[in-house]
Amino acid sequence: MTTQTNTGAPVTVRRYSGSARLNHWVMAISFVLLLLSGLSLFHPSLFVLSGLFGGGGTARWLHPWAGLVFAISFMGLFFRFFALNLPERTDIVWLAKLKHVLTGHDEYLPEVGKYNAGQKLVFWIQAILVPVMLITGLCLWAPGLAWMEQTLGFKASIDQQRLAALIHAMAAVLAILVWIVHVYAAIWVRGTIGAMTTGTVTGGWGWRHHRRWLREEVVAHGTTEHPRVTPGE
Ligand code: HEM
Repeated sequence: MTTQTNTGAPVTVRRYSGSARLNHWVMAISFVLLLLSGLSLFHPSLFVLSGLFGGGGTARWLHPWAGLVFAISFMGLFFRFFALNLPERTDIVWLAKLKHVLTGHDEYLPEVGKYNAGQKLVFWIQAILVPVMLITGLCLWAPGLAWMEQTLGFKASIDQQRLAALIHAMAAVLAILVWIVHVYAAIWVRGTIGAMTTGTVTGGWGWRHHRRWLREEVVAHGTTEHPRVTPGE
């Protein structure tokens, strides 16, 4: 019989590959650039933010390009993670017990897989908002308008461009609110930020917040000393 020596070192579990993290951070950085440049163009009281980019002209130039980087990188993340964000029966139970989520009583919550229902909601809301922002954004950008006319044969009228501006701003406000919830949750649940910086979490974090993921993907397929990279990364 072999005995295992407990070294006392904390058990770490791989949650994200390097490429998944790079994808996420390109998207996150482009989102912050989008947010700051977009707000500076949104209202005269926020124009001061354009100073961060050297002036209104640069902010106006940067905004659509950052938008393209954001939309393409979001698409990358979407295809990596969409299967893991598909709804399940336990999501309804988890949402019904939101009170315990907010009070930190994980012991009353069902075991969840890689993502809980809150994370899945953030994922799907952004998955709707990003294409809306992209399409309406193209209608507000001269090269975007020209591209749509050439490749799709669609020429947006002035009224359609006005409507696009309204929808674009509304979708952006929603996306910012959802992003604030996402970042708040990542900081509030201790040990989560490490998942996207180092790519690892502690075994305790996995046991407490994503027990089914820990069981199925790590315990079943490999030891924590030789963690298996989970699918969808
Ligand atoms: C700039 C600040 C951001 C921070 C600090 C941050 C932090 C994190 C962290 C820590 C995770 C890992 C969560 C886990 O594995 O349980 C994560 C995952 C994720 N983040 Fe972010 N994030 C940021 C921006 C964004 C933006 C702008 C978006 C999209 C609009 C986004 C979308 C996602 C998605 C889709 C996941 C995977 C979770 C899922 O698929 O449900 N993040 N983020």
